[in-house]
Amino acid sequence: MDEFSARLSRTLRQMYNQISKCESGLLKPVAIDRGLTLLKKLGYPVSLLESLPPESFDHAFPLANPLTKIIELDPKTILDLGCGAALDLFLCVQLLPQLEHIYGIDASSGLLDKGRKRLNFPEQTTIITLFEADLNQLNKYDLNFVDLILMNGSFNLIHNKTRLFQTLAGLLNNNGRILIYDFLLTESLPPGFSDEIDNWLWNIGGALSAAEFSTAANCAGLEIISIDDLERIDPVARCQILIAKK
Ligand SMILES: C[S@@+](CC[C@H](N)C(=O)[O-])C[C@H]1O[C@@H](n2cnc3c(N)ncnc32)[C@H](O)[C@@H]1O
Repeated sequence: MDEFSARLSRTLRQMYNQISKCESGLLKPVAIDRGLTLLKKLGYPVSLLESLPPESFDHAFPLANPLTKIIELDPKTILDLGCGAALDLFLCVQLLPQLEHIYGIDASSGLLDKGRKRLNFPEQTTIITLFEADLNQLNKYDLNFVDLILMNGSFNLIHNKTRLFQTLAGLLNNNGRILIYDFLLTESLPPGFSDEIDNWLWNIGGALSAAEFSTAANCAGLEIISIDDLERIDPVARCQILIAKK
């Protein structure tokens, strides 16, 4: 792993572990919604959220509601990279009757523990596997092929995106899909902005333009099926990006 990636990884792990320990304080200085307010704003179905314990929401930091797209894709196996406290995994289990297995990987042991505490429901314990790993080092693990790889807010936190795409391509079934929710650049960032680790922590410093994103995917034998703008907040747009193998 290059030195910038290692430093970024370490800083993010510390930050998300700290977040897992506090209910609201850490994010107060940053004007970012969290908990049920954030999930409702992103369009997660309220009736579904009400079926989960209220503490499930406090440590969810999704970039978007991926559920409609995931239902449409109807995968039997899912790998959620940067799953955090695993809210999307729990909701997928409820919504996808054909689902055979869903794996969640995150670098934050604190967030994963929050998720594991909710694994008491018998049907979820058999379908969900959560484990701690660094997304920069996925090639160290013997992971199963899956129908869908989900990254809801974690893609822009990875420095070497071409290498990440190469790893993802190797984990995808032939007709599999990669579904990414993150920011794409609508304008150039100020010179030097992306050299600062702090600017990466909330997913902006690591944002690519649509053209750069497409080049990184192509280099790994992948092709973009669609990019949908969910919200434009110049210099970025919050996007849903669907990718397949060429
Ligand atoms: C914006 S949060 C999204 C969390 C989750 N997808 C959700 O919807 O709540 C980004 C997540 O990526 C994880 N992450 C960041 N860098 C990572 C890395 N190098 N390896 C593994 N996980 C990482 C963080 O720990 C955090 O849980």
